Amino acid sequence: SFPASVRLVEAGPRDGLQNEPQPIPTATKLELIERLAGAGHRHIEAASFVSPKWVPQMADHREVMQALMQEGQARPQVTYSALTPNLKGLGAALECGVKEVAVFGAASESFSQKNINCSIAESLTRFAPVVERAQAAGVRVRGYVSCVLGCPYEGEIDPEQVASVSRALYEMGCYEVSLGDTIGTGTPLKASRLIEVVSRDIPIEHLAAHFHDTYGQALANLMAALDQGVAVIDSSVAGLGGCPYAKGASGNVATEDVVYLLNGLGIDCGVDLERIAAVGDWISRSISRPNRSRTGVALSSR
Ligand code: HMG
Ligand code: MG
Repeated sequence: SFPASVRLVEAGPRDGLQNEPQPIPTATKLELIERLAGAGHRHIEAASFVSPKWVPQMADHREVMQALMQEGQARPQVTYSALTPNLKGLGAALECGVKEVAVFGAASESFSQKNINCSIAESLTRFAPVVERAQAAGVRVRGYVSCVLGCPYEGEIDPEQVASVSRALYEMGCYEVSLGDTIGTGTPLKASRLIEVVSRDIPIEHLAAHFHDTYGQALANLMAALDQGVAVIDSSVAGLGGCPYAKGASGNVATEDVVYLLNGLGIDCGVDLERIAAVGDWISRSISRPNRSRTGVALSSR
């Protein structure tokens, strides 16, 4: 049955912007994050402490997080998180005063190699000290698993493989495991079956759905996840995004579309629809890109 409320994790400033070809000024990123918080978001993924050679768009991670941590005092209710794939990234994030980080693995060997340059087993060995050191600093760690409903290189992925990587991250100390349909190839029955298998090992309240909308299935897949009791949803305003290591992958499901869906289902999420639609309209114009939220387009063209 559906959860009474859902926690939204806004990935727009990170997942949404990481693949934008033209440089986006740090000030624009900060204004986006501020507007997202103004629309009611309480958890915003703001940056990635990854190699600037691999993901140039996230090269200003320090500037972004430092500014937010100063402002963070003004918005104590908002969590600003960052990706930290290794100890180097974590060290820099801790220096900025970050309170939450995320490690990111994959259920596909090929994707793991392309995305983070190591095997699944090596990635878990790398993440363990990251989680340990973060926890010692009082910093919460989220875990991502990519390719949970398909891989751009390997095709179908066995749900048992997703469960095994998810379990490893959870047992390592990740408070939540976010299941990434990186290339958006999932369909609802597969999504439902996946959650069923993964939640045998991990309590459902510690799972999040991170669905990309490449094939237009994300909302349908979210319905399936909600029906299984998943109560944390990752999304990006205006459907921003794509993964640099998943060719052809388009953005996350649009936050506006998720909020419209949740409102219709009577599920509280704390984000205001009109306000988030205005943010989506603003950022799309600011970076000269089409608004990929159907709800956002409908609301802003009235
Ligand atoms: P590597 O090459 O194996 O690492 O990269 P290395 O330790 O050999 O270092 C190589 C160079 O990178 C060195 O620089 C390091 O200093 C530098 P050089 O000596 O050549 O000048 N370096 C770093 N620089 C800054 N910050 C760091 C860092 N670490 C090393 N933390 C690494 C390994 C993971 C760093 C690399 O592969 C990388 O940066 N990959 C980018 C991965 C990424 O950001 N992908 C997109 C995010 S994941 C995603 O979108 C999926 C998700 O949304 C869920 C879903 O949808 O499925 C989460
Ligand atoms: Mg993603």
